[in-house]
Amino acid sequence: MKKLFILLFTLFIQISINAQSKSIEERVKELISKMTLEEKVGQMTQITLQAVSRTQGTRNQKHELDEKKLEEAIVKYNVGSILNVYDVAHSIEYWHEVITKIQDIATKKTRLGIPVIYGIDAIHGATYTKGSTLFPQALAVASTFNKDIAERIGEITAIETRASGIPWNFYPVMDLGRQPLWPRLWETFGEDVYLAQQMGMAYIKGAQGNDVSQPDKLATCLKHYVGYSFPFNGFDRTPAYMSERTLREYFLPPFEAGIKAGAKTIMVNSSEIDGIPGHANYRLLKEILRDELKFDGFVVSDWEDINRLYTRDRIASSLKEAVKIAVMAGVDMSMVPYDFSFYHNLIELVKEGSVPMWRIDEAVSRILKVKFELGLFENPYPPKDYLNKFASQEHTRFNLDAASESIILVKNENNILPLNKNMKIFVTGPTANKLSPLNGGWTITWQGNDEELYPQEKNTILEAVKSKAGTNNVLFEEGCSFDKELNTNKALQKAKQSDLILLCLGEPAYCETPGNINDLTLPEAQLNYAMKLINTGKPVILVIVEGRPRLITKIYDKVKGILIAFLPGMEGGNAIADVLFGNVNPSGKILITYPKYPNAIFHYDYKPIESYDVNRYDPLFPFGFGLSYTKFSYSNLRLNKTEITEDDELLVSIDVKNEGNRTGKEVILMYITDLYGQVSRPNKQLKGFEKIELNPGEVKTVTFKVNKEHLSFIGLNNKRVVEPGEFIITIGGLQQKFSLK
Ligand code: BGC
Repeated sequence: MKKLFILLFTLFIQISINAQSKSIEERVKELISKMTLEEKVGQMTQITLQAVSRTQGTRNQKHELDEKKLEEAIVKYNVGSILNVYDVAHSIEYWHEVITKIQDIATKKTRLGIPVIYGIDAIHGATYTKGSTLFPQALAVASTFNKDIAERIGEITAIETRASGIPWNFYPVMDLGRQPLWPRLWETFGEDVYLAQQMGMAYIKGAQGNDVSQPDKLATCLKHYVGYSFPFNGFDRTPAYMSERTLREYFLPPFEAGIKAGAKTIMVNSSEIDGIPGHANYRLLKEILRDELKFDGFVVSDWEDINRLYTRDRIASSLKEAVKIAVMAGVDMSMVPYDFSFYHNLIELVKEGSVPMWRIDEAVSRILKVKFELGLFENPYPPKDYLNKFASQEHTRFNLDAASESIILVKNENNILPLNKNMKIFVTGPTANKLSPLNGGWTITWQGNDEELYPQEKNTILEAVKSKAGTNNVLFEEGCSFDKELNTNKALQKAKQSDLILLCLGEPAYCETPGNINDLTLPEAQLNYAMKLINTGKPVILVIVEGRPRLITKIYDKVKGILIAFLPGMEGGNAIADVLFGNVNPSGKILITYPKYPNAIFHYDYKPIESYDVNRYDPLFPFGFGLSYTKFSYSNLRLNKTEITEDDELLVSIDVKNEGNRTGKEVILMYITDLYGQVSRPNKQLKGFEKIELNPGEVKTVTFKVNKEHLSFIGLNNKRVVEPGEFIITIGGLQQKFSLK
């Protein structure tokens, strides 16, 4: 018996050593060679947890898995991936139960024991795990212009999502936010290519680390490849029209950066560009993504979108044809998500020879590769030892810092801010006493708008202001909902009893298509209410909490101070109060050109013709704008050369001084203008940024490196080119010229 045990043990060690010593490529090949067609197609199938649940789980009803259905999905249909929840966050313990059951079935009851890869939208922290740390949304993260913050958010999101046993996050959104009406704008890192690239890369680095198999790392998913974010009419999931040059100049580069940063997966554009649905676009999914950009992870469809090639877009005349088109265009995994139609159709397509076996093997190899890289074959279960890190105090503290850096001060007449704590403040408006508008969609639920599910211990703006100024100094009346005025008379009375009005306007939480709007202007009810308050003669400070730049032009010049909070997350209330009372010196900057008029939508990198003759570039707040409680001066902009060749690196330095008497953080933005080009060149383009902290009187020198990549653009032939000529560097209003030989 003892001998047998030793023999078995030695065998086990040898098998493990063999498994370890083989490369992932070899392990994938070996596994594929053992798989049946059905097992392969199962790996390409992703279903939602809903499809294998007895009760969906709502506010009042506990979620229950339907173990029979789950087993059928995994054992009979060989399903390789499960996603999401039905619109409700689970406790971390419950997640452990669910994931353990899923992996038990996958690894113990199937022939080959291939683990399931579970995916979720943990877009600003572990969205669907109760009590997780929920950070500022991407638009707010990018408004910090602080890459370290993006990286740390990636890191903590990975720790807390993986702590629930989930190793795959459908994030970051690398769509460029250049359509301010789009209801998913706040999921993006804003309008600028360079900023989006830097923020996205930092996030991926934090989330994936160097070894994604570590129990505190996860696989990221770049989405939604590509052009999804630029719907012509501003509504979600409607067509974009873009030339190849526009695609390559603006929308593709953030994805390129994400691929370079090592993102493991990509999700497809749920809409269409130039008449071709994302899921049918061979040119984008194969020729550009694989052949040019060398992406070697797997491509997952978006929700139900392969079916929609038939049911919505009508480019396929049956579900089966839709499956063929999408798989042959390059989609590796289908987020089906409710049934096994994809599975049946694809098996039929292969059997009848319409989809070749090599394409199935290619897709499955990519999926298995990521599963191996994640270490799921070694351990597919939730890591118990990361539980104590989940929602730790350290994470909350960092969350507050991140939120604080994201708040943008855009008006401060006669330095009315920071506020004096001894004044009577009337706090009012629809975003004053709710957590949901601070967090936006994908918070606890998909739409994020179920206020009752929010953690009561977190502070709204009102609660945070009370905690700073003292309950007795604060009066409150909502006064106005998002679209209706409420008990205005009572509110006006309270306004008159106070020294200052803190008016909190903005948007409710929303997500995807339900967030569509017909008008970028803030709803009339809110603006009318604001006018009534302004007419009391009391000074009004406006706090606007929103996911896209809603127009406030009507009241802009009548209020004394304005803070913009682009969904600052669960610590947003505290962060706003900290800025209002001067505990934090604001340092966020505008990252989406803030329009003044509904029809005057600009980007900061506008073309010469947009500001020529009678055309005027005239936004309410320009890109990069944001005030501080101190003053920074810029001097001594210098270049180490005034003439460079393509192989040179140009060093650009500037001295920045804090001229005030308060410590503050400043974002140094380096822009390049290419004076003449074969296609029209933008007014200027951001090509470097750095955030620094300066004590009163302190001077720091910031140096940027410029190389030919920063000078390149997409030329007449739709290829990236670098042209000799003259360039201007602009930093803090100072300029220097150089030329490229
Ligand atoms: C969204 C994706 C998301 C997916 C899964 C879709 O509706 O477009 O961004 O990852 O659902 O929840």
